[in-house]
Amino acid sequence: PQTFLPSACAVTGMKNTGGSRGAKRRAGEHAATAVEDGMVVGLGTGSTAAHAIRAIGDQIRDGLDVEGVPTSFQARQLAIEEGIPVVDLDEVPGVDLAIDGADQISDGQLIKGGGGAHAREKVVDAAADRFLVVADPSKRAETLDGAVPVETLPAARPVVEHEIRALGGEPSLRRAERKDGPVITDNGNVVLDCEFGPIETPDTLAEQLSMLPGVVEHGLFVNLADEIHIGTAEGVTVER
Ligand code: 5RP
Repeated sequence: PQTFLPSACAVTGMKNTGGSRGAKRRAGEHAATAVEDGMVVGLGTGSTAAHAIRAIGDQIRDGLDVEGVPTSFQARQLAIEEGIPVVDLDEVPGVDLAIDGADQISDGQLIKGGGGAHAREKVVDAAADRFLVVADPSKRAETLDGAVPVETLPAARPVVEHEIRALGGEPSLRRAERKDGPVITDNGNVVLDCEFGPIETPDTLAEQLSMLPGVVEHGLFVNLADEIHIGTAEGVTVER
């Protein structure tokens, strides 16, 4: 891994704030330095990717010319606030670079979908020529063992739950914090958070989940990340 110390933060104008928020900011702002004039950029979802979106907004105010493909309603709103021209994936010939967060990272493989946006995130991140993951150190794990979000057609929920149990998982419907009901994704579906314990072969589980009728997309991102930018107290570590 390549480490960028606070001197690099100074060069890129990053604020040297402490704690997890500081680490997320450093990761997001560092990844945003990879954005170049004329690029189409995938704009990820979550608090770490939001730092990258804000940094791209700063660059646009300094004259950078880019287009952004948001991965969620939330990312789209922030991009508009930041003055980033937003386009849909089907309006551009391709995506040069995507910057997105993660919920857990092990050996370059990811669990995503903490914000329920993993279906669009996967399409945009996978379409990108270069996909940069941005995170704080708490996201690192020896083995992926977090719950895997599985976006599911609402009517297919019982059959998908049954099939997930048959794969050794324990699904639980994601509920909205302040409302009495399930979280509904940007695509109108529900999310099942599925506990599998330690996931020793993420590629196998990813394939099995993808094959289930009624599953729109799951949060295992296998062999998609090109670089992992981890913000730390000292700077940013980049793993390729
Ligand atoms: C949303 C995601 C996010 O990227 C992930 O939850 C990380 O979020 P944060 O940067 O706020 O920790 O996958 O679906």
